[in-house]
Amino acid sequence: MPVQIIVGAQWGDEGKGKIVDHLSEHVDIVARYQGGANAGHTVVIGDKEYVLHLIPSGIFHENVTCVIGNGVVIDPIALLDEIRQLRELNIDITGRLLISHNAHLIMPYHKFLDSIREQTTEKIGTTGRGIGPAYIDKCMRVGIRIVDLLNRDVFAAKLKRNIEEKNQILSKIYGKTELDVDAIVTEYEEFDKKIDEYVTDSALYLNRALRDGRRILAEGAQGALLDVDHGTYPFVTSSNPTSGGACTGLGIPPTAITSVLGVVKAYSTRVGNGPFPTELENETGARLRETGGEYGATTGRPRRCGWLDAVSLRYSAMINGIRQIAVTKLDVLDDFDEVKVCIGYQYGGKLLKTFPTDIPSLNAIVPLYETFEGWKSPTSAITSYPALPPNARRYIDAMNALTGTEVHMISVGARRDQTIFVH
Ligand code: IMP
Repeated sequence: MPVQIIVGAQWGDEGKGKIVDHLSEHVDIVARYQGGANAGHTVVIGDKEYVLHLIPSGIFHENVTCVIGNGVVIDPIALLDEIRQLRELNIDITGRLLISHNAHLIMPYHKFLDSIREQTTEKIGTTGRGIGPAYIDKCMRVGIRIVDLLNRDVFAAKLKRNIEEKNQILSKIYGKTELDVDAIVTEYEEFDKKIDEYVTDSALYLNRALRDGRRILAEGAQGALLDVDHGTYPFVTSSNPTSGGACTGLGIPPTAITSVLGVVKAYSTRVGNGPFPTELENETGARLRETGGEYGATTGRPRRCGWLDAVSLRYSAMINGIRQIAVTKLDVLDDFDEVKVCIGYQYGGKLLKTFPTDIPSLNAIVPLYETFEGWKSPTSAITSYPALPPNARRYIDAMNALTGTEVHMISVGARRDQTIFVH
């Protein structure tokens, strides 16, 4: 496997961090390809919990090199904080963390614009981390990249031009105070000194690694249904979490990709606004939230919860090329009398088996469920597939059949050892 891609198959928060951590044992490089500090990977090692936002969870494996690719938007504050935490844990990251010189930077005005846009326009429920505005600048061709920090004059000139433009927007449209160029130049110069040793041409590094037969895990953040092209637009993030994003976000060719593993939570969650066909705004939803600890790793926001949605998963499998899935948090369902899976949508008197991505249709559909008897016994200590309760296996079999994929791994708890390999 030269390159395996790990994608979230739902709306993010599927537990990719744990799966990447697990699979990192068998690879040389873990490379993150999009998003920014809007993501949050929680990894539990022993009794300790670590939350990373930018650095791939592969960093906990000493033989793994972690790459933050050109498709990621980097918040200096978040990155430096993670580097500091890893150093405090005595994790040696020298030579093991590489940052693309082409990655774009999140600037203070991106966060500012993100938060005021949320107050004044249609509320997407963003994480407020400046992600959308940073990608807007990238596409507008005015973004500031890590490479720009190398030359103080180039950096200051680009920043000045951007700040003049942002100040116009801030004062004319939003009536907000103006930003100061000099303070930002000084702050980012300090950042440059601190990250200098990690910055490299990561596309070149990855392609050389491919040539040398090294194994790469490409890690997406968020989930396919939040993809700016394929998700529930406009209630999406501003990048491509789908597998296609791995090639552009890392600079590796599609021909190097050997497989795509989808990570699927045993039920569904979504943070922020936007359609969510199987959402349960009732006691069952609240129970899923409490049992599953469904609160955002980045913002602490309660996640919206609902049953598994096989229609959206089939769609996700199709656009990502997912053949195998890793099912997470199966243990959260242990005490439920019954569990449900959405197998189709009723829409205008018809049965819809494909996923619509326009908002009016998604708001109008009514999910049709197949009900499964619960297994009502703890699964967290189970380490092999045959040892799972028969009803839990039936649920997993249904996931295979209804999503057209094959369940490869099952996670029954946050710890590394709470993982069952099916195939
Ligand atoms: P943004 O990425 O901060 O612009 O937020 C856009 C949408 O994506 C919002 O609905 C967020 O809640 C959602 N989102 C962003 N990152 C994550 C994530 O890591 N997990 C789940 N939802 C996310």
